[in-house]
Order: sequence, then structure tokens, then C-alpha cells
Amino acid sequence: MLITLEGIEGSGKTTQISHIVEFLKGIGHDCVVTKEPGGTGIGEKIRSILLDPGNAEIHPLTELLLYAADRVQHIQELIHPMISMGKIVICDRFHDSTTVYQGVSRGLDMKMIHDVHQLVLGGFKPDVTFVLDLPAEIGLMRAWDQINNGSRPSAETRFENEKLIFHEKVRRGYLELARKEPERFIVIDASGNENDVKEKIQSELAPRLIRMNLNKDI
Ligand code: TYD
Repeated sequence: MLITLEGIEGSGKTTQISHIVEFLKGIGHDCVVTKEPGGTGIGEKIRSILLDPGNAEIHPLTELLLYAADRVQHIQELIHPMISMGKIVICDRFHDSTTVYQGVSRGLDMKMIHDVHQLVLGGFKPDVTFVLDLPAEIGLMRAWDQINNGSRPSAETRFENEKLIFHEKVRRGYLELARKEPERFIVIDASGNENDVKEKIQSELAPRLIRMNLNKDI
């Protein structure tokens, strides 16, 4: 099973992933946590190019193909093997980030993005995708607080440097994807406190695990 978390900067994905792991481990599942970009050794190198604020001149197509290259390596080296071993893989961002950041916000041609997804994923998709939704100005404020207090690396701020309107488009892009594919997406209001968000996620995840016969001790 593959669970992905999506959302704008500062939406709290990392914190909520640790709660999901705790919940899944508590009911006897073996989980693997990973992220994009940078879920593999090669991916780490691609990530440093993508997120370096000094690379502002990166061409949008270069950006798209680097995310795609990172994803191919990630799926082949880590995600597919782990799923075959029966583990639940939880991934911080996946292909929906490409649709929304490179497609909706950067404005690359959606047909091209779709073709790249076809090449990289070949029909493979997450089983469940949580979108942690909150206003862009709140997310960006949280992200910059984390950068300023050192809990988020200042060497990776290329996207945080984008204007508010870029992040608003990202937010709207996710909501639109969720509307089109309601069986895979679960939109969670992430503007509230950490514990409320955690409980909402668990109450949505539990019935899906039951449906997939992965309910174990629920
Ligand atoms: P990261 O530091 O992981 O951000 P966050 O903590 O907000 O997830 O940086 C990943 C950045 O890369 C993020 O700003 C979104 C962007 N991104 C894309 O533009 N396209 C993609 O396909 C992916 C996976 C990420």
C-alpha cells in the first residue's frame, strides 16, 4: 500500500507522517517513510539541485524532468520493492506535487505532464492521498518560522521564495485534483491544531484499511 501526503509549504506533512506511522505501527503494520524529492541516494543529489535557492534560473522543463528522474529512481529502488515485501509506504509528496507545482503553478502543458506521469508511473498510483489544506499565507508563515528557527534547512528555500500567488495556485490545484478523484484523495483541514489534524487523518484512514483488508487490530 502507498499513502502519500500533499500540501503547500508549512502544511504540517512531516509531523502528521510521524503520527500516521505511530498509528500504523500500533496496529501491527510495518511502515517505511520516504519523501520526494530525495528518497534515494541519487535522489538526494537531484534534490540539492532542485531546492537550491541559487538555481533560480532553472528552466521549467529541466525542473519537471529532474522531479521525474528522482521519481523513477525512487519507485524502482525503494517504493516497489518495499510494497512487494508487504510494507506500507508513506511518502511525503509524490506525482500530484508535479501536477500542481509544475503544471498548475508554473503553467507547463498538462498533456506533457500527463505523458511524463505515464512514462514514470506506468499506471501506478498511490492508494490514498491526504491533502493537508490551509490558506497559503498561514502555510508560508509557518514554513518561514521553521527556516528562521533552524528546523527547516535554509539551503532549500527556492520554493518558499516564490510569491504568495504561486502558493495560492498550488492550494487551488490540489483542491481541484481532489474534486476530480474523490476516491483516492482525502482533503484534511490543516489550519487547526496538530492533534485535531491527527485524529481526522486516523478516522479517514481506518475505514480504508478495513476496505483493503489491512485492518489488523483496529
Ligand atoms: P520540501 O523541503 O520537501 O518541502 P515540503 O517540506 O514543503 O514538502 O521541498 C520540496 C519542494 O519541491 C516543495 O516546495 C514542492 C516541490 N516539488 C515540486 O515542485 N514538484 C514535485 O514533483 C515535488 C515532489 C516537489
